[in-house]
Amino acid sequence: MRGICQIGNCLFAVEKTIVGDKGYFLYNKERWRGGRVVEGARLESVCGSNVTVSSNLILSAKKVLSNIMKLIIIVAADEDGAIGQTDGSVMWKLSDDLKIFKQLTSGFPIIMGYTTHLSIGRILPNRPNIILTRKKSQSVEGALIASNIDESLELAAKYSDTVFIIGGEEVFNEFLPIAEFIYLSRVHGHVGGDKYFFYNSEEWTEISSVDYFANENNTHDFTFKTLQSVNE
Ligand SMILES: NC(=O)c1ccc[n+]([C@@H]2O[C@H](COP(=O)([O-])OP(=O)(O)OC[C@H]3O[C@@H](n4cnc5c(N)ncnc54)[C@H](OP(=O)(O)O)[C@@H]3O)[C@@H](O)[C@H]2O)c1
Repeated sequence: MRGICQIGNCLFAVEKTIVGDKGYFLYNKERWRGGRVVEGARLESVCGSNVTVSSNLILSAKKVLSNIMKLIIIVAADEDGAIGQTDGSVMWKLSDDLKIFKQLTSGFPIIMGYTTHLSIGRILPNRPNIILTRKKSQSVEGALIASNIDESLELAAKYSDTVFIIGGEEVFNEFLPIAEFIYLSRVHGHVGGDKYFFYNSEEWTEISSVDYFANENNTHDFTFKTLQSVNE
C-alpha cells in the first residue's frame, strides 16, 4: 500500500518503504508521527477520525511528502558507488566538496546515522544535528537524538521544511525512496571501500552538473550533480 489520505486537517501519507511493509507517515501540520496502518484500518488512534483507510484515498505518498518537506540526500561516492569504509577512515580529501557541503547544509537540519556521527567525530556547527540510533539511552552533547525515521523528520520539521540526509549507507538507503533530490559528488576513479550508495538512474533526472578538478585541495576530480526524483 502506498499513498495518502486527507481527513480534515490531518494529512496521511502512506509509504510502505518507510516503516516497513505496512508502515505509514503522518503529518498533521504540527508533527510527524509514525506507526502501522493497513488498508481497512481505522484511524481513531492517530487523529481522532473514524475514517477507514480505503484504496480510493490512496494517492502518491512521495508527492505529498515532498510538498511538506524537501528531503535532500547529499553524498560523495566514487564511480563504483563507494562512500566509505567500516573503520571510518577517509578515502579522499576534497576541500571543494567540503565547502559545497558546508555552504548548502548550513542553517538546515541534517540527519545522520550514529556511525556517520562517529566517523565525523564532532557536531557540525550552525545546523541542527539529528542523529539516528536505536539505542534508547544514547545521548550526544549538542545533538538531537531520534530513535526512528519519523522522529528524525519530526525533529527536523521544527527547524525547517528543508532537511539534508548526510549518511551513511544504511541511512541513505532508508531515505532514498522518499527523497526529492540527491546532491551527488561523483568522485572520479575507483577508490574502494565497503560502504556504498546506489540509486536507480531511471528514477532520477540529472538537472545540473559541475566539474571540479584535482589540485592541491582535491585528491580527485569530481562532478557535483543535482538529481531530482522522477516521481515528484
Ligand atoms: N561519502 C559520503 O558522502 C558519506 C557520508 C556519510 C557517511 N559515509 C560513510 O558511511 C559509513 C557509515 O555508514 P553505515 O551504513 O555504516 O552507518 P550509518 O548509516 O551512518 O549509521 C547506521 C546507524 O544509524 C542508526 N540507524 C540507522 N537507521 C536507523 C533508524 N531507522 N532508526 C534508528 N537508528 C537508525 C543505527 O545506530 P545504532 O547502531 O546506534 O542503533 C545504525 O547502526 C562510514 O564509512 C562513513 O564514513 C560516507
